[in-house]
Amino acid sequence: MEKTARKVMEVLSGKTVSPPPVWLMRQAGRYLPEYRQTRSQAKGFLDLCYTPELAVEVTMQPIRRYGFDAAILFSDILVIPDAMNRNVRFVEGEGPQLDPISLDEIERLQAPDVARRLAPVFETVSRLREGLPDATTLLGFCGAPWTIATYMIAGHGTPDQAPARLFAYKHPSAFERLLSVVAEASAEYLIRQIDAGADAVQIFDSWAGVLGDEEFEQYAVRPVRRIVDTLRAARPSARVIAFAKGAGANLRSYRQGVDADAIGLDWTLPLEFAAELQKDGAVQGNLDPLLMVAGGDAMESRARRIVDKLGHGPLIFNLGHGITPQADPENVTRLLQVIRGG
Ligand code: CP3
Repeated sequence: MEKTARKVMEVLSGKTVSPPPVWLMRQAGRYLPEYRQTRSQAKGFLDLCYTPELAVEVTMQPIRRYGFDAAILFSDILVIPDAMNRNVRFVEGEGPQLDPISLDEIERLQAPDVARRLAPVFETVSRLREGLPDATTLLGFCGAPWTIATYMIAGHGTPDQAPARLFAYKHPSAFERLLSVVAEASAEYLIRQIDAGADAVQIFDSWAGVLGDEEFEQYAVRPVRRIVDTLRAARPSARVIAFAKGAGANLRSYRQGVDADAIGLDWTLPLEFAAELQKDGAVQGNLDPLLMVAGGDAMESRARRIVDKLGHGPLIFNLGHGITPQADPENVTRLLQVIRGG
């Protein structure tokens, strides 16, 4: 029997699909009442990530409600530091907290046992591939080493990642070591997600935009390239979306630099510039997540403009960053109608 075409995978192979396939970053999350319901059944956020039954349920919720073209594994980028015993906690209203890593601890840092520690995540992936509609792409993901390192060094989120930037300037070789241990673990993590049934993977570099120009090459491009090279050496057909939020003009060389099949675009990029980037391959983005709170004509006209500008080439419609808890679920319904021509 012929396999159903998965539209997101077609775009990742460079084809133009019209209307463009669509999914939203953080599509499983607190804006959905059914997510809040399931979330209240789990002890904590990480328990939700590590309980396949619950993680499958929350991944499926936005697929059932909206029929998105891709499902993204429900987990978090910080499961990698968690597997490294960095004592990751999610405190209600405060975001993630970890034990800040010291210079000394970096020198002694060991590769985590990804297969054992993250076994429930792989179990979730394989159950998802079995339960999803054939036409729905299943995306796995990990955080980029730079973004993971910013949390490992500060021990929490910060507005500009000054602690990690400062650490990198003062202790470049220790910092390189940290990035390389994280990159190795992340590559293994992605290979195992692909083996469990993920069709493609996304690498999230949410904090790429705070790096200086030379540091962008050193800390955002090279470690991600290392992950992609390791992944492709092991699984040559694996498809990769790389999202470097805030990278701006650095995106000109990013696709080639990291060897990604598609690059993610945040909402600050001019559509003219996005169209230039699309000449080299698929792009994904870039609606401002706040428009999912605002809704109405502001959301609809901007969504149409994105499709007008980028829909004639390989485009995966998405937001420019994750949907926020304040988003109105009805606006998502309307967005899909606008994109799919309803
Ligand atoms: O997109 C999806 O639906 C899949 C699940 C997913 C989550 N986090 C679930 C989550 C994905 C892909 C992520 C990635 C992630 N996690 C990133 C990169 C993307 C981005 O948003 O920049 C980062 C930086 C993290 C780290 C993280 N996790 C932070 C900073 C927070 C707290 C902020 C917040 O919104 O509260 C989390 C928690 C988190 N991860 C939640 C969800 C649904 C909310 C926690 C809850 O339900 O209590």
